[in-house]
Amino acid sequence: MIHFQNIHKSYRVDGREVVALHPLDLRIETGEVFGIIGRSGAGKSTLLRLINGLERPSGGSVLIDGIDMAALDGAALREKRRGIGMIFQHFNLLASKTVAQNVAFPLRLAGDADRAAVERRVAGLLERVGLGGHANHYPAQLSGGQKQRVGIARALACEPSILLCDEATSALDPETTASVLRLIGEIHREFGLTVVLITHEMDVIRRICDRVAVLDAGRPVEVGKVADVFLHPQHATTRRFVQEYEHEDVLNDAGESVAAAKRIRVTLRGDSVHAPLLARIARGTQVDFGLIGGRVDKIKDTAYAQLTLALSGGDVDAALRGLREGGAVVEEIG
Ligand SMILES: Nc1ncnc2c1ncn2[C@@H]1O[C@H](COP(=O)(O)OP(=O)(O)O)[C@@H](O)[C@H]1O
Ligand SMILES: [Mg+2]
Repeated sequence: MIHFQNIHKSYRVDGREVVALHPLDLRIETGEVFGIIGRSGAGKSTLLRLINGLERPSGGSVLIDGIDMAALDGAALREKRRGIGMIFQHFNLLASKTVAQNVAFPLRLAGDADRAAVERRVAGLLERVGLGGHANHYPAQLSGGQKQRVGIARALACEPSILLCDEATSALDPETTASVLRLIGEIHREFGLTVVLITHEMDVIRRICDRVAVLDAGRPVEVGKVADVFLHPQHATTRRFVQEYEHEDVLNDAGESVAAAKRIRVTLRGDSVHAPLLARIARGTQVDFGLIGGRVDKIKDTAYAQLTLALSGGDVDAALRGLREGGAVVEEIG
């Protein structure tokens, strides 16, 4: 488990103090995929780099399975870092080394002298990330997605228990992003890793994370299960991220022109998404449901539907009751 305890971090820039992280407490559970979302400059990379000791806190501590990373140095810090892999937005591969040499690099750094064992391990990792045939290629000969796969293989070289991902898909096109996220998800399950992933994209969080923290100007303003945060955002910053993803501004315009006694947002999750709830209630209560906007999609493995509806005619109160009794979360939006 990763436990940030009253941690804070400031940098001195031109004699001035820049606060990157205000004092915060946060727990990341063993084995979860934990997302951190925030705008550029929110403090995401700083928070991530505190985990593997690339940054030192100005105060407080980061406990990993009870051990304070900030209190370690020298050999003890190096040893602990071996258990933490990291991948980067711009891959950070060594251009003058082949794919296999890049993946072997952390093993050699760690003093793993058995050449044959290193080669076997590297070959296995490259096979796992789908680059079995590219061992002797150089990074410049690879696509962005392939480079990130090399980065993932390298991060796994020392058999880490934690994988840190710093905007790992931000330089990739949407299709490649999806395949790299799928690979991270598979590796998370196969190797039982704890994954901490930072991004400025809600869609990345939605696809792969179990829980998420929303970071705003060095403060976590919302922390929770992705489905809860995504479907019912509480903080203005979170709402902006969700709206960007949903293009909700367009929907709001459309909503103005639909005559209604009441506008509601209905959220269904899991099996109830596909139940014929709306039609049954419309029939039973004589309420007409006008469709203003909505989405039927998945958050990780859970299906959801979130619809903005204009209700008119019939027994609206009975319709709201019926929706809630049918397992929907109903929010009245005027
Ligand atoms: N090494 C550094 N020196 C000075 N200021 C830094 C350094 N690293 C980050 N900062 C500042 O700390 C804040 C948070 O940065 P960062 O953690 O990189 O945010 P993010 O990853 O969310 O974009 C920013 O204001 C940034 O300018
Ligand atoms: Mg960053």
